[in-house]
Parts: sequence; structure tokens; C-alpha cells
Amino acid sequence: MTATTRPGGMPAIQPRRMDFVFDDAIPCYWFDGEPCMTLLFTALSSSFPDGERFIMKAVRHYQGRIVDPGLQAALRGFIDQEARHGRQHEGLNALMARKGLPVRQMTAFIRHYLETQYRLYPPAMRLAKACALEHFTALFADRILGHPALIDGFDTRMRPLWLWHAIEESEHKSVVFEVYQERVGSYWLRASTMMLTTLEFAAFMVVQQLQLVVAAGELGNIRSLARAVRYLVGREGLLEGLGAGYLAYYRRDFHPLQGDLPQYREQGLRRLGQLLGRPVDVV
Ligand SMILES: [Fe+2]
Ligand SMILES: [Fe+2]
Repeated sequence: MTATTRPGGMPAIQPRRMDFVFDDAIPCYWFDGEPCMTLLFTALSSSFPDGERFIMKAVRHYQGRIVDPGLQAALRGFIDQEARHGRQHEGLNALMARKGLPVRQMTAFIRHYLETQYRLYPPAMRLAKACALEHFTALFADRILGHPALIDGFDTRMRPLWLWHAIEESEHKSVVFEVYQERVGSYWLRASTMMLTTLEFAAFMVVQQLQLVVAAGELGNIRSLARAVRYLVGREGLLEGLGAGYLAYYRRDFHPLQGDLPQYREQGLRRLGQLLGRPVDVV
């Protein structure tokens, strides 16, 4: 077992009640009217519900064997949060399907793929994959919380979903990792599964994005493609600075809460309250 240190206490994992309405009046290209940038987030959203189900199942397998009562409580909060994320993203995915995008076919494929993988992987490897996926979501979540301008171009009916999801992903980023450390602990399995998951995630994102852009008839829209590339890898782009955070996962003494900035979540919660026009309810 590899020793890692949790810097400070784990944040309280607080599920929050959300009930977003994704009505048809929301434009198809709800990110600044831009097809490719909207479809990038559509691809992410379409992978969330089944990805989150995979993570919940992988971690539930170990739930009865967690010794630390604090971690048990955090795990219950974590599962509650993820289940709520999945339901809300299903609402968005249904909207994008009504707009004529092949989201249902994509989610059916992802479900089949992940269910097959779940059957084939031993429990420790499923948990290692869940850790890797949680690290990806935490990296994106913290990037968005630290640089909220990245989602300023979203339609105001869409922004709260992504902000809420980012806040909770950041809040619970260490839970699956701590379960892994307590019940499995192998560094090599964690690192090698991250490599595999990175390739898988990158391939899925490219294929799904392409599938959506082709279906939307936007493949020839070079201006929109170029803007999406700039949004991803340009100055102040979504991926800026994420390399170091990604590589940190391969350190033996890595812990997801190293360098954690709780003030980003507090600012995010204040912004979320403003967007919703009401205090954010904790369940
Ligand atoms: Fe989530
Ligand atoms: Fe998560």
C-alpha cells in the first residue's frame, strides 16, 4: 500500500436539490450560438449519466467494508450527489436529442461499452478506473470554478447545471480515491488504469465530437471548429494548466486535496445562488 497524505480535512459532501427545466425554447447551440463548442459539452454531458453509474457501482462494491466512519458518511453524500447529476444531465441529453442530435444512440453505445467493461474488470480495477474518471472531472471542475468566464457564454438557463456539477465534483474529488487507498491501495494499478482511461477518454471525446458535428452538418464550419480549438487549447482555454494537475496523479504521494482551493467552491456557490435567484438548498 502506498502512503498518501490528506492535506487538511475532507470537505463536507452536501447533495443539493436541483430541478432544471430544459425546455425547447433553449437554442440548440446554447454556448454562444456556437455549434462546435456546444457540441463539445453535449459530448461530455452524454457520457455523464452512464459514467457516473459506473463509478457509483464500482465504489458501492466496497461500501460495506469501509472502516473509517467519516469516509462512510462522505461516500453516502457522494453517491447521492452523483445520482442527482446523472438525472439532471439526462434532462439535458433529452433536450439535445429533441434538437435532432444522435445523443440516444451515443448514450446507448456508452452504456453497453461500460456495462461490458464492468463485467470484465476485476473490482479493484473498476475502482481504479472510477478514481481516474473522478480525477478528470475534478480537473475540469476546478478549472471552471477558478475561471468562471469559461462558461459565461452559456445560455443563462444552462449555466447553473454546469456550475452546480462543477462545485460538487470539486467537493467530492477525494472520496473515491480514499476508498481506493483504504481497500485497494496499489500504486501500479492506479497509475496504469489512469493511462488506459486517458486513452479511452480521449478516443471517446474525439469520436463523439465528430459524430455530433457530422450529424449537425457542421463539419465544414471551419470558423466554428477553429473557435472550439481555441477555446480548448488557446490562451485562457479550458485545458490551460491542466497538464500539471493531470501528471500529479502519477506521483506516489498524490492526494486529490493537495492544492485544493475551497474558496473557488464558495465563490461558485454564491454565483450559483445569483443565477438561480434563490439560496442553494442542501438536501
Ligand atoms: Fe458528477
Ligand atoms: Fe464525481
